[in-house]
Amino acid sequence: MSAFRLDVAADGLGVLTFDLPGEKVNKLSREVFVELAEVLVRLSQDPRVRSLLVRSGKPDVFIAGADVKEFTRIGPDEISAASARGQALFEQLARLPFPTIAAINGVCLGGGTEFALACDYRVMSDAPTARIGFPEVRLGIFPAWGGCVRLPRLIGLSAALDLILTGRQIDARRAKRVGLVDEAVPQAIFEDFARRFASAKSGEGKRASRRARRPPLVSALEATPVGRRIIFQKARKNVLAETGGHYPAPLEAIAVIEETWGLPIEAALEVESRRIANVFGGEVQRNLLGLFFATEQVKKETGVNDPAVRPGEVRRMGVLGAGLMGGGIAQLAADRGIPVRMKDVQPQALARGFAAAAAILQEAVRKRRLTAREMTIRMARLSGTLDYSGFAQCEVTVEAVVEKLEVKRAVLAEWEHAVGGTAIFASNTSTIPIGQIAAAAASPDRVAGMHFFNPVHRMPLVEVIRGEKSSDETIATIFSLAKKLGKTPVVVADLPGFLVNRILAPYLSEAVRLVREGCRIEDVDRVMTDFGMPVGPLALLDDVGLDVAVKAGEVLQAAFRERIKSGGDEALVAAGRLGRKSGAGFYDYAGGKRGAPARAAYEALRAEPKPEPPFSDEVIESRLLLPMVNEAAFCLEDGVVGSPGKVDLAMILGTGFPPFTGGLLRWADSLGLTRVRSLLEELTGRFGPRFEPARSIRRLADERGSFHSPAGVSTGAQAAS
Ligand code: NAI
Repeated sequence: MSAFRLDVAADGLGVLTFDLPGEKVNKLSREVFVELAEVLVRLSQDPRVRSLLVRSGKPDVFIAGADVKEFTRIGPDEISAASARGQALFEQLARLPFPTIAAINGVCLGGGTEFALACDYRVMSDAPTARIGFPEVRLGIFPAWGGCVRLPRLIGLSAALDLILTGRQIDARRAKRVGLVDEAVPQAIFEDFARRFASAKSGEGKRASRRARRPPLVSALEATPVGRRIIFQKARKNVLAETGGHYPAPLEAIAVIEETWGLPIEAALEVESRRIANVFGGEVQRNLLGLFFATEQVKKETGVNDPAVRPGEVRRMGVLGAGLMGGGIAQLAADRGIPVRMKDVQPQALARGFAAAAAILQEAVRKRRLTAREMTIRMARLSGTLDYSGFAQCEVTVEAVVEKLEVKRAVLAEWEHAVGGTAIFASNTSTIPIGQIAAAAASPDRVAGMHFFNPVHRMPLVEVIRGEKSSDETIATIFSLAKKLGKTPVVVADLPGFLVNRILAPYLSEAVRLVREGCRIEDVDRVMTDFGMPVGPLALLDDVGLDVAVKAGEVLQAAFRERIKSGGDEALVAAGRLGRKSGAGFYDYAGGKRGAPARAAYEALRAEPKPEPPFSDEVIESRLLLPMVNEAAFCLEDGVVGSPGKVDLAMILGTGFPPFTGGLLRWADSLGLTRVRSLLEELTGRFGPRFEPARSIRRLADERGSFHSPAGVSTGAQAAS
């Protein structure tokens, strides 16, 4: 079976079609490279060919990039050679004796973009699915098949750094603007246009090297050594600010681009392939790759064990409660093409739901991610009501009314009465057991949890809560709907706090205790942001809302009294300091922006920050992180989720736990469970029994195992579990 087909027309136009057999997308694997190398030799010797069009046989994909599965088979000592092989192949393409044109009809990423860069010209379709970019840094590497060398030469340093360092993917219009492609072509005429474009180049010589036009100031900066130094310094500073220095790949990419600027291509490629070994195979790269596989794995899962179960199709969605979460969920559905019906009890509340959805879309329009027309189309998918009219047509209704058991039960009863049929009721509750909500339901098999995180449009995780009576079909349908909405679902058992909030509870309350014991608010938060958290725990509490957090905390304390205890944050609620939404929490918020820690917060907590920090940063870090590890171990013991890999995925996607660590339990593994146990024991001795290590941690430590390899075997190049 061959991946490439070559046709040569009478006018000398060669058309090379890449269509990987048996795959939905084109990927660059070792096998594909071998075949491509042969095709290129044939082409270089074919006297008929006067220009070459490279196109894809897949409808929405040009080339999705390297076959990432192969990364697990390449050792750190082999990576430079693997990089050099790819570079050599693309050099072979670049040196074909006639003009070459890449017809980018859809997704073009990583190695695919490097392929396209080795062609003389690039034309790209404006199809909504067509995107071009270099996502390598997200996998802990940088483009090393010539991308770091060719891109800056084509579009200039600043634009190239921006694309390579952010991993951003851009559409045809933007790609044309930065000079990455020569033409952005309407989808309807793309194939025809590409052919004509390539035919017109027939017989012309190779394209002279050229650089895209850039704003005058940018060109002026790039033209001088001093200017370039400024550009690289700024890039480094931005990366450090963005990543806290936890990710080596973007910094290494900057070094490659800086070192290779102005070098002859062969020497430049040598630098690129040599330096990729500095990041490939490192812990961060392996962790990011593991995370990628874990996310990919979810795409293949159905949320249930029985392979015969099929999810129901969801054509329309209902949302009950147009508040903060309901409005966000409705917006998300509309954004993803699902017509959605929203119900609330008061017209003002409904109006707020619409306004919230509009505000999110408006922001996308402002950032030019959406046109005004696209926004109108999305808004038209939203409709509102004060009764249950239209809900019978919704295959799934998400309930997001206030967090009160009696209200949720009443709403479920009303809904069942109004819609009947086979529809599913998915509660967005953050704390109330599904079993309790569904206790009096006529069809508890069609009730489950669908727990989104706030803000809905940004947070990628959905916990799918399996009630005792939820059916497989119900779970599979919610799981599949979550994916359709662009989220990563994780199925969790119906136990208090489910997974993420349960693990967060001891962390958040410990942070408040630290303040009560004399730590400064900003110090507690800083230790965690230094660790790599997107925000510190106290700032997070302010964002969640202290009232919401206290309520969730109460449920967890009732369930796990021996270790989850309030840190005293009720005092802030009593003082009216509810966090960002009330303008004051641990911090003050003037005009919605987080300001300085508030004197009044210390007073409400009856705390006084000590002039000398009472604990070292290490102690603060241990007191905050180890209870999370411990609680995660308890969750696994209780069967909340099936594997440590799911805990890691959920914590990264639900809380922003730093991806470079590979997740909470991967981080604990890297510390070693003997050390985790001894630290927890030390904390127990010093601060009380809430730190007592879970049974499974003790056992794993005794057996010299870890969460991810319980038998104590080292995993080497890890895949997701
Ligand atoms: P909210 O107070 O902003 O919205 C609740 C809405 O429900 C209000 O508009 C209210 O008028 C409406 N409502 C009350 N009774 C109703 C009824 N019988 N029928 C229809 N609508 C009714 O609350 P929020 O924050 O949106 O929370 C909703 C749910 O989502 C709760 O279960 C909460 O625990 C959960 N949740 C909240 C998160 C958060 O960060 N706020 C995060 C994840 C879940």
